[in-house]
Amino acid sequence: MKIRRSLTLLLCLAVAPFACGDDEAPNNGNNTGDDDDDDDDDDDDDDDKPDAVRGGAIYDKFWVVVDADEPEDDHPLWEDRPDQDSNDRTGSDTWRCKECHGWDYKGVDGVYGDGDHKTGFAGVLESDLSVDDLVEEIGDNHGYSDAGMDEKDILDVATFVAEMLVDVDDFIDEDAFNGDEDAGEEHYEDACAGCHGEDGLDDEPPGSEGDFEDFPGLIATENPWEFLHKIRFGQPGTQMPPLADMLSDEELSDLGAYSQSLPTSDD
Ligand code: HEC
Ligand code: HEC
Repeated sequence: MKIRRSLTLLLCLAVAPFACGDDEAPNNGNNTGDDDDDDDDDDDDDDDKPDAVRGGAIYDKFWVVVDADEPEDDHPLWEDRPDQDSNDRTGSDTWRCKECHGWDYKGVDGVYGDGDHKTGFAGVLESDLSVDDLVEEIGDNHGYSDAGMDEKDILDVATFVAEMLVDVDDFIDEDAFNGDEDAGEEHYEDACAGCHGEDGLDDEPPGSEGDFEDFPGLIATENPWEFLHKIRFGQPGTQMPPLADMLSDEELSDLGAYSQSLPTSDD
């Protein structure tokens, strides 16, 4: 119940009027009916506290999240990749944490162990560095301070690494989510359909520039590891809500299973 309420609240804030249901008129904080509404302890003014969920979005495309310039040069560690041939990306792509460490956080031991994303670099899942050491590793050794991340940005992504990494095998067997498709439908309806449509084929979810075709059904099916990261941490630069703190692991897996049943294209 608690989870459901906060999810609905978050979605109303993020995507009103798309996700708020027709039976509830938009409401400007003038809440009269509800007597048990006490959101005073919702302390989201606290800017100093590390925000691990924001850190998860930074892991994807940091410059979009922290509003830095998009890097033009390659990441300083890029030239050291053990496999120089498989992945020929250049520029900003080489700065995405996921490009070296994977959506599954397992680097060369995971999905990026072969194919055109392979770099040969290790994952981050096994890292047992403290948050302080992670801050130093990411800010200094990895060059993200010089690239425009401030102390808070680096602390957020370090806290994400320390606290939020999951073993994707707990969610995904081979490439199928291990959750319950029927149970996931309701989460899809609540959290996704308002923007992506009932069938997930809306080619212009609110906030999109249009001609969108990386539909939920497609990404869930073709890249369930990316899908899992994105439903937990959102899509950088959009209002797509991060659900890591809203849904349990089981519910996320249910949502993944349902999304894998959606059509992958509109033709
Ligand atoms: C260009 C490839 C590349 C990118 C991009 C990259 N890393 Fe790394 N990362 C490495 C390499 C190489 C190592 C191991 C050597 C080292 O520590 O410098 C590493 C090591 C790590 C470690 C393990 C430290 C340990 O010893 O336990 C963590 C954690 C980490 N990176 C986090 C991140 C985060 C977070 C980002 C994005 C903000 C990121 N990395 C982006 C290449 C990369
Ligand atoms: C507030 C609207 C909104 C909500 C709610 C929302 N999304 Fe999104 N989503 C977007 C936008 C905007 C994009 C980026 C569109 C673009 O790139 O043109 C996006 C992108 C995506 C992508 C593509 C990522 C990629 O690889 O480019 C997937 C998959 C996705 N959403 C799935 C979901 C799922 C599953 C849910 C429910 C948990 C959800 N979204 C909820 C707006 C939303």
